[in-house]
Amino acid sequence: MAGVKLNKLNTVILVLNIVVVYSKKYHPETFLNVEQKIRYHGYPAEVYQIETEDDYLIPFYRIPYSPYRGNRNVKNKSIVILMHGMGGCPENFMVLGRQSLPYYFSDKGLDVWLFSSRGTSSPFKKMHKYLDWNDGPEYWKFSCHDIAIHDLSAAIDFAISHSDQKKVFLVGHSAGGTNMYTLLAEKPEYNDKVKIGVSWGNAMILKRFDFPLGLFCVSFGDLLKGIVKYFNMGELFPQLQILRPLLREMCNDPEWVKACIKTSWFIGSQRSYITDPKDIGVMVTLAPPRVSIKQAFHYMDNLITGRFQKFDYGTKENLKRYGTRRPPLYNTSAVTAPIAFIYGHCDSFFLKGDYYESAELLPNVVTVYEVPFKKYTHADFILSRNSTSMTYEPTYNLFKNYDNGIIPPRFIPPANYT
Ligand SMILES: *[C@@H]1O[C@H](CO)[C@@H](O)[C@H](O)[C@H]1NC(C)=O
Ligand SMILES: *[C@@H]1O[C@H](CO)[C@@H](O)[C@H](O)[C@H]1NC(C)=O
Ligand SMILES: *[C@@H]1O[C@H](CO)[C@@H](O)[C@H](O)[C@H]1NC(C)=O
Repeated sequence: MAGVKLNKLNTVILVLNIVVVYSKKYHPETFLNVEQKIRYHGYPAEVYQIETEDDYLIPFYRIPYSPYRGNRNVKNKSIVILMHGMGGCPENFMVLGRQSLPYYFSDKGLDVWLFSSRGTSSPFKKMHKYLDWNDGPEYWKFSCHDIAIHDLSAAIDFAISHSDQKKVFLVGHSAGGTNMYTLLAEKPEYNDKVKIGVSWGNAMILKRFDFPLGLFCVSFGDLLKGIVKYFNMGELFPQLQILRPLLREMCNDPEWVKACIKTSWFIGSQRSYITDPKDIGVMVTLAPPRVSIKQAFHYMDNLITGRFQKFDYGTKENLKRYGTRRPPLYNTSAVTAPIAFIYGHCDSFFLKGDYYESAELLPNVVTVYEVPFKKYTHADFILSRNSTSMTYEPTYNLFKNYDNGIIPPRFIPPANYT
């Protein structure tokens, strides 16, 4: 009998040990999903699943109001939809705990929605009416074009239908910005549903980049396409997913977190001066990202050609689909909703000239704002706590002014920029 008791005691001690070790080691939000993260900070969360016109099922999250602020009327608040980048997810905006962007906007009185594009993990079992994302390449045959015209359009309509509002604010980080111009060019009726679209670290034109992976794409783009076609691949490096638990362990371990953060610098080719290694552990539970090859290639082609163009299917298929050998340009003159660019001087993906060129092509760019910290990088938008003052605030000011009837005039780029 004593032996049994001892065993039970041992089990209890073992469990306690695990609890203590793990609770010490991991960031408290490491294993929480989007809804749990929101509730963890005391905010109400709503979770929906939207069906797109081409049968994808995407989650959509809402923080209808802030418990720390008076107005709980969910119908009369201005809506803001946050859009993550390529390989990203809504959790990208929740890395900084209580200081994260969704809570900032919620406390400002906005009705906050977190967009989650196809190819991003979901709390729902089904992610497509007929296809399984782990079962072959069919699910993954989409590019940013499809995310924009099917997913984002559905999300905007969905948010509006849950409110008395007729228009929304948009914030897109990185490829989240691309979603915005693509939708507004392809389905111009959506311009009437957007108050202002704010693009963080994304210029539309991607031509002057300064990151080694960019040069790699220019050099080996055609070769990569050949390989992908040969193997009928849908997802970019799905094999890397086995690294997930390892990365999570490493990046939550104080011994390793430096190595982890440096890896994140490598990907963006920039050292960050304003991130806290303690925040990396939560971020990395989402790595490596799952990316569709078609989406990556669409970007790669824009980078190689310097054009904001539709997907390149190859000469034969282009002729069939578009009637031209080269893919046509997106009709940027149809993007009449106000667009604001906020960018970092040290963002190696998009350089200042890209923003100026985009502001010439888009008829209603109202702001091109450089974050006043010279070393601001692409990842700092989501990883730095300094972003509250550096980017959240200027973004919110655009919204507040818009709701007070103040929209900046069209931005005119300087002559002879490079
Ligand atoms: C929204 O509704 C709340 C509660 O009914 C009210 O106090 C507030 O003034 C309204 N705000 C606007 C902008 O209409
Ligand atoms: C592009 O958009 C503009 C403005 O909506 C429209 O007048 C024009 O016809 C469009 N061009 C094409 C080729 O669709
Ligand atoms: C970033 O925020 C910290 C903490 O508020 C502050 O001490 C630091 O000066 C800020 N860095 C910059 C570059 O503004």
